[in-house]
Amino acid sequence: MNTLVYSIETSCDETSVAILNDKRKILSHITVNQKDHNKFGGVVPEIASRAHLQILQTIIPKSFEEAKLSINDIDIFCATCGPGLIGGLLVGSMIAKSMAIGTNKPFYPINHLEGHLLSPEFSTTMNFPNLTLLLTGGHTQIYLVKSIGEYKLLGETVDDAIGESFDKVGKLIGLGYPGGPLVEKLAKNGNFEAYDLPHPLEFEKNFNFSFSGIKTAVSLLVKNQIKLNKKIKSNIAASFQKKIIEILIKKTELALEYLRKQKYDIKDMAIVGGVAANKSIKESLKKFSQINNHRLIFPPLELCGDNAAMIAWACLQHHKMGIKPDLEFKPNPRLSIKKIKFS
Ligand code: KG4
Ligand code: ZN
Repeated sequence: MNTLVYSIETSCDETSVAILNDKRKILSHITVNQKDHNKFGGVVPEIASRAHLQILQTIIPKSFEEAKLSINDIDIFCATCGPGLIGGLLVGSMIAKSMAIGTNKPFYPINHLEGHLLSPEFSTTMNFPNLTLLLTGGHTQIYLVKSIGEYKLLGETVDDAIGESFDKVGKLIGLGYPGGPLVEKLAKNGNFEAYDLPHPLEFEKNFNFSFSGIKTAVSLLVKNQIKLNKKIKSNIAASFQKKIIEILIKKTELALEYLRKQKYDIKDMAIVGGVAANKSIKESLKKFSQINNHRLIFPPLELCGDNAAMIAWACLQHHKMGIKPDLEFKPNPRLSIKKIKFS
């Protein structure tokens, strides 16, 4: 059977739609990155909701054209129903629900985080159990993924998310928004040993992260500069990125050690989310995983950030596993992944 799914992702500032079949083939995938927020240095929720509504009206018809399909060819519909900004979640889910009602087809609410967790499947077939680092603008979490649908949160940030800290550091050194890719670019020409930034929670034997102290340290560093020239900016970016990598490796090491003691035979290590686009982070984690005889897996670059293809893929898994569709599901800005534990 060839199931076709239509998916909408509107949880933050990317408006994305996708049409996928159950062989993982992407028939259409359109993602629009809303630029209206750049001048504010962060996402403005009200602007995001309005933009989602406007953009969806143009990209939905375009996606059907691209896939050479009509709405009646779709078997199941889905949308991200949390976590995320409630305005965007309402817009996306209401439209997907309306499409499902209009065609008398099922609607599946999808958790955004599950979409990210399953996104490496677009590059490779994932092995389970795996250890996944979910690194985005809103989340920094470390999961034991026992199988599709069974996710155990081992630790997370106690303050800023990793992507948020890249964005804040970017802003402090005068870069645009989002800062992540710009900090990475600048760091290439910098000396990563120029500044010794703090390593919060370094000696805590848990799997939590903290990034706000590093941001404060960078802020003080910036204030103490007489002239913030390109060289200093590059050195700050490189030192910051190096510290972030150190923190990720340290916590991953700790989590692997804990899981080994718990007799889990971890097959893969995965890195997902917008920050997984960062080459230096990926390369360092790859080296680390090889030392530990693990395979590092990650989604293709275009599926690291928020996108509807990963939501569609998660939906197809729900459908395959016999999870019931739920037209009544209310989008929840704080939707927990515990709610999608099926076993
Ligand atoms: O997953 P995502 O698109 O959205 C959320 O679910 O939050 O992640 C967006 C975050 C932003 O904070 C952005 O700065 C960061 O991912 N990001 C990066 C890179 N590309 C995107 N951070 C570091 N290096 C990058 N190359
Ligand atoms: Zn995301």
